[in-house]
Amino acid sequence: MEHLLIVDDNEDVLTQLKWGLASEAYTLHFAKDIDEALATFRKVQPGVVTLDLGLPPHTDSSEEGFRGLVEMLKAGPSAKIIVITGNDERENALKAIKMGAYDFFRKPIDLDELRVIIRRAFHLHAIESEGRSQRDVAAARTHDSHGIVGACPAMRSILALIDKVAASDVPILISGESGTGKELVAKALHDKSLRRKERMVSINCGAIPENLIESELFGHEKGAFTGAVATVQGKVEYADKGTLFLDEIGELPVNLQVKLLRFLQEMVIQRVGGRKDIAVNVRIIAATNIDISQAIAKSEFREDLYYRISVVNLHLPPLRERGEDIRMLAEHFIRRIGRDVGKEVTGFTPEALAHLESYPWPGNIRELENRLRRAVILAGSSRLTAEDLGFGEGNNMDGALRFADKTLKEARAMVEKKMVLAALARFEGNIVKASEALGISRPTMYDLLKKHEIEN
Ligand SMILES: Nc1ncnc2c1ncn2[C@@H]1O[C@H](COP(=O)(O)OP(=O)(O)OP(=O)(O)O)[C@@H](O)[C@H]1O
Ligand SMILES: [Mg+2]
Repeated sequence: MEHLLIVDDNEDVLTQLKWGLASEAYTLHFAKDIDEALATFRKVQPGVVTLDLGLPPHTDSSEEGFRGLVEMLKAGPSAKIIVITGNDERENALKAIKMGAYDFFRKPIDLDELRVIIRRAFHLHAIESEGRSQRDVAAARTHDSHGIVGACPAMRSILALIDKVAASDVPILISGESGTGKELVAKALHDKSLRRKERMVSINCGAIPENLIESELFGHEKGAFTGAVATVQGKVEYADKGTLFLDEIGELPVNLQVKLLRFLQEMVIQRVGGRKDIAVNVRIIAATNIDISQAIAKSEFREDLYYRISVVNLHLPPLRERGEDIRMLAEHFIRRIGRDVGKEVTGFTPEALAHLESYPWPGNIRELENRLRRAVILAGSSRLTAEDLGFGEGNNMDGALRFADKTLKEARAMVEKKMVLAALARFEGNIVKASEALGISRPTMYDLLKKHEIEN
């Protein structure tokens, strides 16, 4: 059960709130001065507080109220404090917001409106503390996940599977779109394996000219072909006792697929131009960003080789399907990049976040990282904006096209969310000004924030 702390020295107000809020889904606590309020605050750690600014001993000034605000935020920075002021105390209200209050409310109290604001504050508080603990869990996890950030269900099961299969010698096929972290996962598998003290040798099957791949993989004897002036070990031999990472295996020409398969079956190689069998002990990890089953259907990839290399298949989902992870990865990267370039960037504007979360990320995590690097370098303030991220008007996907596959209702919702975010961005999160600008009431604004899951 959540706790609401009401701080007010006026008996009538206390009674009004006591009855007016009695049926709400939180426990009520009351305090008549700041010392009493602080004691209760520390004891119950309320999610939301309503704080009257004019409190004894200086009821005609807001000094005590501000002191309480500061002290409470010190004792529990995540609490949402709603300041309650006299009718003509707009200045104080704004000052309180600047000091960290969540919102303000003017007397006389309209119970319906206050109820909505309090509910919204609890909702936000719950989302935030959930987000925080998930982020903590994820941060703790990355230590033993070799830099792989991921808390969404798909990534959690991948991390668990990595732990399970890393120590065995089974061949593993990692699939996923470009930039989804296949190489990172391959490294994690090697680093968690019993071969971790040996080499992981990578070969990019798509990047070597066809006539050189065989020699690259298996080596050659001196004189095997023109230019073979010395005997050279291939990568497979070089990886002996360690891990061989066959990147872009889908690009391997069919005749080499046959030779690779033979090697995998026998675990012996012959250098090009050589007759001697050389036994090699490697663990195979392969990666592909093409759909191998399609390549098999088109006879571009041998089914028998596929079964050999894919005893375990780790499929990395595209970034756009990782939900919460997008934000977590973005925060992870700005911290790291900020450190690299010596610039402190603390987060994103709500509009920038909305873009990050709705952009389709064709280049996946690599694209996210690149965009963030550019943004951190360009940024003029500590919060990255949509423009910093390259989502400014003109170069994003705005316009009719973006709505092409949407229903009218979905398109309306998208515009609604965008306008709310833009207004909040324009007025730096000030709900009152933003709702005025949009021509809606404050409760309507809170409903929209809830509907679109906007944190303000
Ligand atoms: N889950 C993750 N957490 C943190 N960083 C990640 C994650 N996934 C990928 N990265 C980072 O994103 C970048 C791209 O990852 P990686 O090179 O492993 O992708 P890939 O799938 O091999 O891409 P390609 O198909 O283009 O070769 C790297 O800098 C990597 O460290
Ligand atoms: Mg790669």
